[in-house]
Amino acid sequence: MKTKKTTTEYIIYEGIEELDSSTQNLMKEAINARKKAYAPYSNFNVGAAILLDNNKIVTGNNQENAAFPSGLCAERVAIYSAGANYPNNTIKSIAISASSIKQKINKPVGPCGACRQSISEYENKQNYPIEIYFMGEEGQIVKVNSLKDLLPFGFNSSFL
Ligand code: THU
Repeated sequence: MKTKKTTTEYIIYEGIEELDSSTQNLMKEAINARKKAYAPYSNFNVGAAILLDNNKIVTGNNQENAAFPSGLCAERVAIYSAGANYPNNTIKSIAISASSIKQKINKPVGPCGACRQSISEYENKQNYPIEIYFMGEEGQIVKVNSLKDLLPFGFNSSFL
């Protein structure tokens, strides 16, 4: 019997202005996408922006539905759009921003478990790490260098 540990390395930025200019731009795209979210049931808006290796940016936001489980998170709307439209490009980074009508979200909001699994599929497919930056509406931004930092022991195709 052995006890082992996994560690997660992450960077905290105090605000958007601490990001390099390309990432600042990516986060601004996520914020713009967030403002166009369709979230009439939760009033929780999320935007995601994906930077590709051809420098194109693909955005997405959460899309809700009266039949609740039919809705989809911002991160998956964005990454499936990138997969559908740019199947042969590498995803370099994803920026995420979340806000709520009920309260000011001033803490970083990480992607949900299902979105982590979905992002993981593309990281494995491209065999190149995806940087993830996430924030609330304001305040600190967390960065991880790879999805693997958010999803240790992830499920992948090697098990199939
Ligand atoms: N949501 C996202 O878009 N991304 C996440 O990672 C967490 C949750 C959305 C789904 C739903 O429309 C709303 O936020 C409340 O859960």
